[in-house]
Amino acid sequence: MILVSGANGRLGRRIVQHLIARSPAPVAGRLAVSVREPARAADLASRGVEVRHGDFELPATLASAFTGVERLILTSTDGPRAQHIARHRQAIAAARGAGVQHVFYVSLLDVAADSPAEYAAVHREAESALADSGLAHTVLRNTLYADDLPQLAGPALNDGILALPAGEGAVSLVSRDELAQAMAAAALAPRLEKHVYELTGQVASGFATIADKIARVSGQALRYSAISEVKYVAAQQQAGLPAWQANALGSLFRAVAEGRFARTSNDFAALVGHPPKSLDCMIHEYFTPRSTS
Ligand SMILES: NC(=O)c1ccc[n+]([C@@H]2O[C@H](COP(=O)([O-])OP(=O)(O)OC[C@H]3O[C@@H](n4cnc5c(N)ncnc54)[C@H](OP(=O)(O)O)[C@@H]3O)[C@@H](O)[C@H]2O)c1
Repeated sequence: MILVSGANGRLGRRIVQHLIARSPAPVAGRLAVSVREPARAADLASRGVEVRHGDFELPATLASAFTGVERLILTSTDGPRAQHIARHRQAIAAARGAGVQHVFYVSLLDVAADSPAEYAAVHREAESALADSGLAHTVLRNTLYADDLPQLAGPALNDGILALPAGEGAVSLVSRDELAQAMAAAALAPRLEKHVYELTGQVASGFATIADKIARVSGQALRYSAISEVKYVAAQQQAGLPAWQANALGSLFRAVAEGRFARTSNDFAALVGHPPKSLDCMIHEYFTPRSTS
């Protein structure tokens, strides 16, 4: 049986949908999810997916959630650093205790020890906990999510300035949906060539280029302005983000500015059979003005 944790989240839900699409029907007895609120996964239950209660902060729920699971797709969570690291450690310990045969861990492209990104440290810790656990595992390191662009650039279209502390750093964006497709493919593969997959787009672009492309497609003025991390973090907090999250995002953009998300690989195509969508294609999807008539 394959189990996906965090299946009520945006990435986790898409992983389940791709697993269903790629599996011969019926999936009953072969596909399960663990979620904190089972009632929110009623649509999956109605499609034959076994819905189990699993909260990384409540180990007792994990012991039963992971029972009988051969392949576990461990979708990482978010939160203040110490809590974030502790959750992943609990989940890995529970997987070991339950006798899970193989863990697929949803990591981040940048896990370097000298990275300034808080999230790099969190995912590095989880990868190292997995290595220490003795569990067979595959690490799926995600680039940044392309489908966050509308949230990032949408408000900026009002004043025409996309202000981020990303310097001249380039990123190779891929949507959650396509990353989920690669993860489903990895979990279903009879055997995998690699231990670590770097799931990235084919080309990395800086935010000046991204802003230009959005402006051209949306028909609205937009230019990129590289701002300081301090200014960005203050603006995020003013907009309502908790301090830990504003700081984590600030440090993530510092890692972008340092070129840590500019790396590209062919690992996505190796799993899925074709490369992910180009940046131009995704910007057309997200920013083409919709006709109101
Ligand atoms: N590469 C990137 O650009 C990028 C960007 C943002 C985030 N991320 C990482 O990717 C992960 C998934 O992203 P997303 O967009 O799907 O995030 P999301 O929609 O916010 O989902 C967060 C997931 O975390 C789970 N979660 C939170 N607390 C938990 C706990 N105590 N026990 C078990 N599960 C818990 C939630 O579980 P339920 O399903 O039970 O609600 C949910 O599925 C994030 O959590 C983060 O680590 C990466």
